[in-house]
Amino acid sequence: MNNELQAEICQQIERYRKDHIEPTLEQDDHSENFRMEIFSGLGELGLCGMTLPEKYGGAELTYSDLCATLTELAKSSVSYAVTLSVSTMVQSIINEFGNESQKKKFLPSLTSGQGIGAFCLSESSSGSDAAALKTTAKKTDGGYILNGSKMWITSGGISETYIVMARTGAEGAKGISAFIVPSGSEGLSFGKKESKMGWKVSPTREVILENCFVSEENLLQSEGLGFKIAMAALDKGRITIGAIAVGLAKRALDESVKYALERKQFKQEIFNFQGLQFMLADMATEIECSRLLVDQASHYYDQGIPNQKLASMAKLKSTDTAMKVTTDAVQILGGVGYTTEYPVERLMRDAKVLQIVEGTNQIQRVVIARCLKKELQA
Ligand code: CAA
Repeated sequence: MNNELQAEICQQIERYRKDHIEPTLEQDDHSENFRMEIFSGLGELGLCGMTLPEKYGGAELTYSDLCATLTELAKSSVSYAVTLSVSTMVQSIINEFGNESQKKKFLPSLTSGQGIGAFCLSESSSGSDAAALKTTAKKTDGGYILNGSKMWITSGGISETYIVMARTGAEGAKGISAFIVPSGSEGLSFGKKESKMGWKVSPTREVILENCFVSEENLLQSEGLGFKIAMAALDKGRITIGAIAVGLAKRALDESVKYALERKQFKQEIFNFQGLQFMLADMATEIECSRLLVDQASHYYDQGIPNQKLASMAKLKSTDTAMKVTTDAVQILGGVGYTTEYPVERLMRDAKVLQIVEGTNQIQRVVIARCLKKELQA
């Protein structure tokens, strides 16, 4: 249940999404058009650096507040919600692992929503096996030369700040370091915009590093800590992906109930049929379970007790729920549900990749199982 502050924030976002996002949403989904002014508008509402300290332009709010925000935003647009969620993850990395000068230099623009952050871990041959990444960072005078290519990067090409994981040492997790690579760096370029099933407003591109010089001032912490930095960030990011899934699923449910009460067949509203009522009741129950897990996982973070198992559970349950609920929503709306006249087909397309990003749901199960083993051994 949202507290008073969250209820207020959600009302503000509801107004914003209805006034500024919904009017061009279908058109932008069709033309795959990201509007920077919409994202900056979120910044003007104070939503782009919610969990960051005030001294870097943040709002010093909680992870629960951020999750409530993303849930509300995702009712209209998963694309803007995910842009916000990944950009916030980048800010958290800099805030948690950066030094004072890195924070002062890179955070204010991101917290204001004038700039976007991108997280660059995956490569064409290392998705789930992230520790096998091949991008190299070779030490040189005053910095590092980065070479390699990062795949499927959310906000690739429109971001201002890229967190890039690259290999400074031997094979495996311990040989990986994390760098802040600003846009405009020589040797940093982008592949074509990927043509995707969903998330069409959010651009996804390959990030290419060709003899890209990065100053040693942009190394996060010290060499060899990049994998741990990435994993710790994903533990939080996965909760926010769960929050987005909850918002998307809620919208699909609302559309389904509304339609079931309007649509008449066999001389009555289709809502009256118990088969349909059971579907709606199951959808609502699964969404509520997901929301409670997201709440619980974010609550732990807010208490300073990160709980990796709960974060993975929240991501797994919510995103599987979003896929099921949106598929059922299309079924309930029937013929029109399959057309772009109603939003449920877009919601269903947008749901799919939530089961893949920030660790596939199979990887979440691996993480949960490993936690169970650790708990038993402890
Ligand atoms: N926090 C801190 N440290 C962690 C950690 C965490 N959550 N998880 C692992 N580590 C540490 C381990 O303790 C270990 O260090 P030590 O040896 O010192 O103990 C080191 O990292 C290596 O850990 P593992 O042996 O567990 O590593 P692994 O190779 O077996 O991988 C994995 C584990 C869970 C499978 C991991 O590779 C993984 O999560 N894969 C999925 C990758 C992923 O989520 N990609 C998402 C891409 S980003 C994205 O989608 C964003 C977007 O744009 C939308």
